Amino acid sequence: TTRVILDCDPGHDDALAILLAARNLDLRAITTVAGNQTLAKTTLNARRMCTVAGILDMPIAAGLDRPLAQAPLYAEEIHGDSGLDGPHFPPPTVDVDPRSALQLATDVLTEPTTIIATGPLTNVATLLRNDVGNVDRIVLMGGSTGRGNMAPLAEFNILADPEAADIVFRSGVPVTMCGLDVTHQALATPQVLDRVAALGTPLARICHQLLTFFADSYRAYFGFESPPLHDPVAVAAVIDPTVISARPVNVEIELTGTHTRGATVVDLHRVTGRKPNALVATGLNVDRFWDLMIGAIR
Ligand code: BDR
Ligand code: CA
Repeated sequence: TTRVILDCDPGHDDALAILLAARNLDLRAITTVAGNQTLAKTTLNARRMCTVAGILDMPIAAGLDRPLAQAPLYAEEIHGDSGLDGPHFPPPTVDVDPRSALQLATDVLTEPTTIIATGPLTNVATLLRNDVGNVDRIVLMGGSTGRGNMAPLAEFNILADPEAADIVFRSGVPVTMCGLDVTHQALATPQVLDRVAALGTPLARICHQLLTFFADSYRAYFGFESPPLHDPVAVAAVIDPTVISARPVNVEIELTGTHTRGATVVDLHRVTGRKPNALVATGLNVDRFWDLMIGAIR
């Protein structure tokens, strides 16, 4: 199976991405970044999720606590004050690795490795700037070919650190972008919640509580009937490439737009003449995705 590093900002959907990755891939490290909540909270949440999921030997290291060129942007209106509101978590029994996220990732990258990124791209951009090498590909949750979520035309992970996203998309490393086009198809419907509840295990109960809190947030904030489980889509795309359909296109990150900073400008119709620099996912095999996700919880 594929050797991976998961860089994340848990976050409800990141927590489920951790589970999906640990159960199906050769996961070598979890690195955390500021995003859905502060770095201290996202790091604690990674340890919490690993503890309840029995992922006990995974190095977890804290990364950067602010974006490259702007003030931090958090999403407490979606993920709550802890960043992982809903369940009651026991005190974590897994420690944080003493290395920085960048050091841990550099140590893992002595061999070719895929990076899955489900938060703002601050850590990943910094790693690429350090020229560590051996980054096989980057599969990220972020962006959109159309509208955004936390800004009219910008998706949260890109909006939270546009300069970092710009570095990643220009890096020359193969990038797969799983944006809102596909993640808004991964809806945790009442039927999905029932399947999780029916598993009946303590971990399934926690996942059900996470999904229920997430559903309530999305209903209150966006008026969505069911919440999109964004981050696990990027993990699923690495486990089974047929989960998504994607095409090679050019993506530029808007850094200076008057109203559009943080937008992913995706040349879907190839009108700019600029070279493709990313595989952009537009289709999702929804049934296969949920079978993988529920299988991981089981
Ligand atoms: C992204 O933003 C975060 O709130 C989620 O964890 C996901 O990574 C969706 O826009
Ligand atoms: Ca995330």
